[in-house]
Amino acid sequence: MIYARIAGTGSYLPEKVVSNKDLEATMDTSDEWIRERTGIRQRHVAAENEFASDMGLQAARQALEMANTDASDIDLIVVGTTTPDKVFPSTACTIQRRLGVHNSPAFDVQAVCSGFVYALDVANRMVITGGATKALVIGTETLSRITDWDDRSTAVLFGDGAGAVVLEASEKPGILSTHTHADGEFEDLLEVPLGEQYIRMNGNAVFRKAVATLGSIARETLATNGVEKADLDWLVPHQANLRIISAAARKLDLPMEQVVVTVDKHANTSAASIPLALDIAVRDGRIQRGQLLLLEAFGGGFTWGSALVRF
Ligand code: UT7
Repeated sequence: MIYARIAGTGSYLPEKVVSNKDLEATMDTSDEWIRERTGIRQRHVAAENEFASDMGLQAARQALEMANTDASDIDLIVVGTTTPDKVFPSTACTIQRRLGVHNSPAFDVQAVCSGFVYALDVANRMVITGGATKALVIGTETLSRITDWDDRSTAVLFGDGAGAVVLEASEKPGILSTHTHADGEFEDLLEVPLGEQYIRMNGNAVFRKAVATLGSIARETLATNGVEKADLDWLVPHQANLRIISAAARKLDLPMEQVVVTVDKHANTSAASIPLALDIAVRDGRIQRGQLLLLEAFGGGFTWGSALVRF
């Protein structure tokens, strides 16, 4: 049996940090409201000349280094992003060129906040069926460009950044299963409408649906693998709101010490949030080789998904 194993992780955050206090100066909000309702304290914002490919490239280089892998050995690049550099070609193609890779398939996956889990699902399936042996899976977002900085109901929530993993074919596990779903019925609750520039969200409705759905995807993932809640070492969730993350942890009977939380520092970076959180917990030594990780995401579409990973 061939698995896709995470051989390395990487991440990148833009230099500019915008704190809640900074936002207080430009809109009718407060640090207290943002922290209590979301857990967010600050977010990173891309420079004017910084795009999804720039950030994804940095994250990819770090992941390649940790995996001890030469870019020339990469035979698949999948990028989860809602904020690509261009309408086309894909951000994956731009990153491929800048890595000096030729001929591998390279494409973007658009599943908003579930983008990384969707990208991981596709890459995992290609690796385990022999279509690729070393894959780069990247989540990268410049959400600040589709955020209306005059709308306090959304401006406080989002940030920019990128994360990446190198997957390699291995006899050792590996990604144990991936799960992806969508229900377009809910598309108008979280969207950038055609002809408009900015995110519009019915926050309350998204919140309720996210909590319920993350509970069901976790149950589905554990059941598929015959794994108990108590077997999990880490929950690495999409980082939209600390209250959503805490609710997901409670449903899994996991103490917050076993949940990777970055929403306080990064805010919601959509498809970048899971690989960013993963990389941070790998590099600070919390996540160790051999541990069992549950990755889960929910976002616009609605889309949702998960992965059970033996790290
Ligand atoms: O990545 C996946 C997609 N996104 C999500 O998962 C986000 C899901 N939703 C949420 O995280 C939450 O719904 C929000 C954080 C967006 C909002 O929290 P909430 O507890 O649902 O607040 P609310 O929208 O019900 O607003 C409560 C009050 C309102 O005032 P009134 O009507 O009670 O007087 C808002 O006008 O808070 C007000 N408000 C604010 N006040 C200060 C909304 N935004 C702000 C703000 N600062 N930034």
